[in-house]
Amino acid sequence: MDLTDRPRRLRRDGIRPLVSETDLDATDLVAPVFVDATTDERVPIESMPNHERVPVDEAVARVEEVRETGVEAVMVFGIPESKDERGTRAWADDGVVQEAVRRITAETDAYVITDVCLCEYTSHGHCGVLEPDAESDPTLTVQNDPTLDLLAKTAVSHAEAGADMVAPSSMTDGMIAAIRTALDDAGFADLPILSYAVKYESAFYGPFRDAADGAPAFGDRRHYQMDPANGREALREARLDVDQGADALMVKPALAYLDVVRAVREGFDRPVAAYNVSGEYAMIHAAAEKGWLDLEETAYESLLAMKRAGADLIVTYFAEDVAHRL
Ligand code: PBG
Repeated sequence: MDLTDRPRRLRRDGIRPLVSETDLDATDLVAPVFVDATTDERVPIESMPNHERVPVDEAVARVEEVRETGVEAVMVFGIPESKDERGTRAWADDGVVQEAVRRITAETDAYVITDVCLCEYTSHGHCGVLEPDAESDPTLTVQNDPTLDLLAKTAVSHAEAGADMVAPSSMTDGMIAAIRTALDDAGFADLPILSYAVKYESAFYGPFRDAADGAPAFGDRRHYQMDPANGREALREARLDVDQGADALMVKPALAYLDVVRAVREGFDRPVAAYNVSGEYAMIHAAAEKGWLDLEETAYESLLAMKRAGADLIVTYFAEDVAHRL
């Protein structure tokens, strides 16, 4: 054969790492941690093997387990002791996230990011204040503007508790501007915002809604989260958030949206995060349990693909599983 170009030459052992285009490092990963005010014991999350909800007293221990694997950052989610129409426990000074973050930042060196949303705190499970009669009328939804102030208060209370970064995830129009202004006014001008700028209304969030007890009591989130059919709209969402002061942009979910990760990477000069969501984790685990997939190899390949698509950091439930081989 007269072949001059033989790509196989570069696939031999020894040269492979030299020509590898993408690296995955434990310091690229963020591990979600669930802190639950309704329990004094660790409670396994059935749909997410190896993940638990931990009581506030165990939050530091949980974060230390993550740090031991080489993962340095955590994303804290809270399950409050009580819920109401407006989600008031989201911004309570003695709320579950605030208490946990105070301890984690006092006792560990973890970089602490908090999820800023109301769905775990509202009795109806939606990400903001509802329009009157929304429960009986499916055309009604979350009121955008009255929700902004509640998100801003929540972000400030996380900052006061010691959070290193806040990550608003409610897909409320104007949320980044509202939170940036409130943080600046409260003296947190240096605290960065990781915006869940591009968040789709996705079936892949199923297991998380069990984990964080945040499923909507009625209806769905289609009036505020993005339609999975849309790619151009992602650029519009990202642009709005950059204009309002987002320091980094998240795309969520990750695996089924790698085209969007790439587009946001190419369209903006901000760091891009991919959120490898609960359903992406659960499906690999379920197949591995049946012996149909190799868990670690599949998880690693998925995370590598997110980096190849352009993600700088990845929020993933696989963080601890994958970190030790990096
Ligand atoms: C809160 C929030 C959700 C997730 C992260 N933040 C739930 C949702 O929008 O339903 C999902 C995370 C996952 O599935 O892993 N708004």
